[in-house]
Amino acid sequence: MIKKIVAPVAFVIASLLSLTSCQSQEEIKRQKYITEGILKYQNNCANCHQRDGKGLAALYPPIAGSDYLAHKDSIIHIIRHGQQGPILVNGKRYNRPMPAQMHLSNLEIAEIVTYIYAEWGNSNDIVDVKYVDKVLK
Ligand code: HEC
Repeated sequence: MIKKIVAPVAFVIASLLSLTSCQSQEEIKRQKYITEGILKYQNNCANCHQRDGKGLAALYPPIAGSDYLAHKDSIIHIIRHGQQGPILVNGKRYNRPMPAQMHLSNLEIAEIVTYIYAEWGNSNDIVDVKYVDKVLK
């Protein structure tokens, strides 16, 4: 008698658990990207763009609040290939070479960009490594 009840109840609980864990799998992945992204931003970008992303005077443009945040693909390209020549960021002119970051893998770029958008782009999305693969192909 008890067995008859336990089995279906266990089934329902198991289904509910797998439903919620499906959602949080995505969130766990996002949190992992962000945690890695913070570290990699601090090690590879903060020297110039500063920890708070606000840039440095007329030398290094800000990422926080930058109008480049509207162009995710350009940001991915700039990280991998660097950027040279005068550019306008929020209407202000900058002209210093940013070195290409060839040592960063596509996954590391994905983590950094996910962090940038979570921190300064008001976004809850993952910038997946598959997306970075596609943009840099
Ligand atoms: C050696 C200094 C330096 C490092 C390190 C560096 N950048 Fe830059 N970055 C610059 C400069 C300088 C520019 C502007 C280039 C120009 O004037 O053409 C720039 C431009 C940019 C831009 C476009 C403009 C803006 O501010 O929105 C983005 C986005 C960016 N960098 C992101 C990054 C990220 C992410 C990293 C780390 C992976 C990084 N940079 C590492 C110096 C640097």
